[in-house]
Amino acid sequence: MSLLTATARAKINLTLRVVGRRADGYHLLDSLVAFTDLGDGLTVETADSLSLVLTGPFASELTAESDNLVLRAARALAPDRGARITLDKRLPIASGIGGGSADAAAALLLLDELWGLSTPPDRLHQIALSLGADVPVCLAGRPARMGGIGDELLPAPELPAAALVLVNPRIACPTPKVFGARTGSFSLPMLGVPDRISDVSQLASLIERGGNDLSRAAMSLVPEIASALSAMRHQAGCYTASLSGSGATSFALFADLGGANNAAAAIKGERPNWWVAATRLST
Ligand code: C5P
Repeated sequence: MSLLTATARAKINLTLRVVGRRADGYHLLDSLVAFTDLGDGLTVETADSLSLVLTGPFASELTAESDNLVLRAARALAPDRGARITLDKRLPIASGIGGGSADAAAALLLLDELWGLSTPPDRLHQIALSLGADVPVCLAGRPARMGGIGDELLPAPELPAAALVLVNPRIACPTPKVFGARTGSFSLPMLGVPDRISDVSQLASLIERGGNDLSRAAMSLVPEIASALSAMRHQAGCYTASLSGSGATSFALFADLGGANNAAAAIKGERPNWWVAATRLST
């Protein structure tokens, strides 16, 4: 019997511009995506039939029904194969840090190995895209400049070592609702993104210049996001703060994990009901 495990790491949209809209309603993006050390845990084991067990602090907010993205990923990869999958749900759901997308991407990679399929990378990318616009970047698992609806992945600039505080006010923020609430014209893609970002203050400038075009819409649906951003910006050592994806998780940028841990503890003390975490930015 084989058993494989992986961490399905949270993604952060350091910048996110909405640059257009396709005829099918999907939005075209220009987003600098990076990953953190935090993630859900995924385990796959050989079994005759396909099953999913949910554990962890956010397990009760999901169901292990057939529409779960992890089970959809498994069936899309090989409709008739069996596996016992355990998902340790440590990240809040519908929160803009790609928990579900990262779980699906990790499931594709682990099951491909468990089942010995050696699926070609192009095919894995196509399956990932069929599961959700953020799944391809999670499959790549490294910083990327994301274009199209999430399907075009260009190399990201080299990023400096940095730490993040993530804050989620524990209110689900469904992506379709946020895109639906967005108003105004489209942005231009970011110009002049350097190949290398040498330090944290340069990264903070880039985050501020890029912005997040979904912030206003997300805040109109979940006003607590504004409180979370304000709480982060008041912490010592915070370089900048912004929204990730369609929210409701915001992130704040720090030079090191020590500073991020102190800020996370202070915010948690003030708002015990919020989900607050400190992590490293994966470079
Ligand atoms: O692809 P995914 O299932 O994650 O997208 C959920 C919804 O978010 C889509 O149905 C669409 O309404 C919206 N969306 C979008 N443009 C994107 C990604 C998502 O409009 N690039």
